[in-house]
Amino acid sequence: MPDDHNPFADPLRFERRVPECAMVIFGANGDLTKRKLLPALYRLAYDRRLPASFAIIGNSRTDLGDDEFRNNMRDAVQKFSEDTAFDPDLWSRFAKNIYYIAGDMNDPSMYQAIGKRIGEIERHNVLFYLSTQPSYYGAVAEQIGAAGLNEAGPGAWRRIVVEKPFGHDLESARALNQRLQAVFPENEIYRIDHYLGKETVQNILAFRFGNGIFEPLWNRRYINQVQITAAESIGVEGRGGYYQEAGALRDMIQNHLLQVLATVAMEPAAVFEPDAVRDERAKLLRSIKIMQPEQVPLYAVPGQYDGFREEKGVDPGSNTDTFAAATFFIENWRWAGVPFFVRTGKKLPKRSTEIAIQYNSAPLSLFASGDGDLPKRPNLLILRIQPEEGISLRFVSKQPGAGMHVRPVSMDFKYGASFGGRSPSAYETLLIDAMIGDATLYTRQDMVEASWRVVEPILHAWQSPNFRVPLYEPGTWGPPEAEKMLERQGRHWRNA
Ligand code: BG6
Repeated sequence: MPDDHNPFADPLRFERRVPECAMVIFGANGDLTKRKLLPALYRLAYDRRLPASFAIIGNSRTDLGDDEFRNNMRDAVQKFSEDTAFDPDLWSRFAKNIYYIAGDMNDPSMYQAIGKRIGEIERHNVLFYLSTQPSYYGAVAEQIGAAGLNEAGPGAWRRIVVEKPFGHDLESARALNQRLQAVFPENEIYRIDHYLGKETVQNILAFRFGNGIFEPLWNRRYINQVQITAAESIGVEGRGGYYQEAGALRDMIQNHLLQVLATVAMEPAAVFEPDAVRDERAKLLRSIKIMQPEQVPLYAVPGQYDGFREEKGVDPGSNTDTFAAATFFIENWRWAGVPFFVRTGKKLPKRSTEIAIQYNSAPLSLFASGDGDLPKRPNLLILRIQPEEGISLRFVSKQPGAGMHVRPVSMDFKYGASFGGRSPSAYETLLIDAMIGDATLYTRQDMVEASWRVVEPILHAWQSPNFRVPLYEPGTWGPPEAEKMLERQGRHWRNA
């Protein structure tokens, strides 16, 4: 067993022990289970953060025995645990507590079988994980309820984790919520948004509220604009069927990027407790100005990469957005008038997620620029979420030599260089949190509804029958309309 202690872990979370529990994964044969959940659980076992008794019960329709399922999961761990050595002894101990129950998610007897297995292995705390096709979420929760699996014995808990997407619009999100809340109380419903579990997204709070020097400048008096970019170089990678129904706005902005925006812009919570933090995020999301239909063409731009329509599972006439950009305004005292430009897309020039906070320029320019032109607004703070996690601050400096010529330079902090070691993946963090009952990094229903309200006018406009999504060349920063959206507001995207 390794003895490497993870230096990034929050000591409070680290200290809280996970009690005995079983995790029931619906959709256990799917991509998410293989790529994210099992590698995360294996890593947690590797770091000795799970009790030895931790059990997994996988379910899907595919007819498999326990051993076959264990082998599939071992293959997944070996393939997708890029930064964790495979330890055969650890795996054999871990795999002993992995079980599989085949069955149709609409079949009540399958839930009886799951209940029976939970009883046989004598676990009392159970985390149900919905990783199926989203259209099954409500039905699975109801079947869990009908089989009485939601009822915990004294001192034990039963929780449900719901993968994104949570609904496909406001109405369906509300309907799904009602079905879930008929079976589980709100405090046992964990809506996952894996961006909130990313170390660098959590660090935004530490950076803002753990330091005294940034927060006083974190407002409309000093900040000119904020740009949030989540660019991916890959395409839809075999997820054409799902993606053509979702599109970039639903897939990334409604959830991940609005949560990131809320983290950047929210007010400090009075205490670092789940509902205090979530109240602030929710308040911020509610204060984003909702676009009027006639504003959508000015403040939101979709795009589709050339070649998307030929992807497997995609309709040849598809009008789905694989790129989406929007300008959001926050109507509160801190942010009134500051544009938040948000964009995401597939097949962009590189994989990069960052938040660029552009400060106003000095009121008067006293110095000549050195080599090249001085940017109009030289002070830029960049929070890099991935792939090279870090923070950098740009400012001007005197160029050595005669005369008073200045040029922009950067002060850089890199996670890897400062802390060494690896950071836990978002799923590691979030799974542990669900098991210890800490919902700080999970979204709440009011947050989900607020973000659907923000994106709905845009969705409506883009879905109207005569609307055509502009195309863009793979490997570019989306359609030219995205740049024009900023030009109209006297700004440019930062395409570094
Ligand atoms: C998922 C989206 O939620 O997030 C994917 O469905 C996207 O389309 C992914 O690729 C991006 O996550 P990450 O962690 O790789 O930035």
